[in-house]
Amino acid sequence: MNVELTEEQESVKLAARDFAKTELLPGVIERDEKQEFPAAQIKKLGELGFLGMMVSPDYGGGGMDTQCYVHAMEEICKIDASTGVILSVNNSLVCWGLEHFGTEEQKQKYLIPLATGEKIGAFCLSEPEAGSDATSQQTTAIDKGDHYLLNGTKNWISNGKSASTYLVIAQSDKSKGHRGINTLIVEKGMEGFEIGLKEQKLGIRGSDTHTLLFNDVKVPKENRIGEDGFGFKFAMKTLSGGRIGIASQALGIASGAYELALAYSKERKAFGKVISKHQAIAFKLADMATEIEASRLLCLKAAWLKDNNQDYILAGAMAKCFASKVAMQVASEAIQVHGGYGYVKEYHVERMLRDAKITQIYEGTTEIQKIVISRMILN
Ligand code: CAA
Repeated sequence: MNVELTEEQESVKLAARDFAKTELLPGVIERDEKQEFPAAQIKKLGELGFLGMMVSPDYGGGGMDTQCYVHAMEEICKIDASTGVILSVNNSLVCWGLEHFGTEEQKQKYLIPLATGEKIGAFCLSEPEAGSDATSQQTTAIDKGDHYLLNGTKNWISNGKSASTYLVIAQSDKSKGHRGINTLIVEKGMEGFEIGLKEQKLGIRGSDTHTLLFNDVKVPKENRIGEDGFGFKFAMKTLSGGRIGIASQALGIASGAYELALAYSKERKAFGKVISKHQAIAFKLADMATEIEASRLLCLKAAWLKDNNQDYILAGAMAKCFASKVAMQVASEAIQVHGGYGYVKEYHVERMLRDAKITQIYEGTTEIQKIVISRMILN
């Protein structure tokens, strides 16, 4: 793995940094306060090619590698982690899944508008009783010949209202366990599909998280992804790459909080000198910088393995597990460096701590990552 950025990676990183500073920073506090979806910004990100970064140009994407994606996620999430998760779900859960396992018809119909940013996608796995234990799906997709009859409820769905295309994981034959699960492409507006309650969240408040209700929704057979019973493996394979995106989101939150703490420590004076000259603060900054560098390397290693067609499940789980812990620690320490100012909204770091927490929960909790890691190192 080469630690130097390629020209393409460098220019993607700079473009994302520039966009975050000019388009996301103004209004990020208000969007957080009002739980407002960044619709205009997402539209522009789509036009710039950030919603389908890794999709082949044949399907309207940017044809970039996963390392470009890590850099873009870091830069966007330094400023606005809510926008980061919208990008992450669209890129790595929805577009990647459709491109790798969809039929040509599904790619033409659903992938192209998602990759160009004309539409947004959502990935619907979690349920009231099947978050971590993903095989215990209560939502059913019963085979009715030319269609599936979909019934059930999905919870905590990112892009829940703003999406147009939903990948819904559901149980078709309970007796077959995980081999009885299917993933169906559901369109907004299908009869019987309703967008439910919007969650009032601690963090990533700019992203829209909803309950989804399916009541006798007829989903055509051609909307199933892969062979009958492939739905659980589809979800696992997709989430393995998704975890690199969330690890990068955590990396971005940590980097953003660190940069703010560093700048503040060079301005704020106490006891006759800027606080960065006090060892108590300088050592905090040293720890933050080291932990962030380690997170970045883990994210890039997982991305490099993925780009080079090697197994990245372990590396992605390690990156997410580590980077999300670092995001929590660094955001908390960044508040400490800011003192009282850190506890109020206008200095941004309190939002970053709230945003950091979700990276230890979604796309598999820290405990799930440890299950994945320990199983792999023990076998
Ligand atoms: N890649 C490919 N196949 C995989 C896989 C992976 N990463 N993980 C498991 N599988 C396969 C296994 O090989 C096995 O196949 P066989 O039976 O053919 O051998 C099959 O899937 C079942 O695997 P397990 O027996 O390991 O399944 P398990 O029930 O023990 O579950 C788990 C394993 C890792 C705990 C899994 O349930 C899991 O990842 N849970 C967390 C789910 C999750 O991340 N939820 C988040 C919701 S989505 C979200 O958050 C999106 C958002 O809003 C941002």
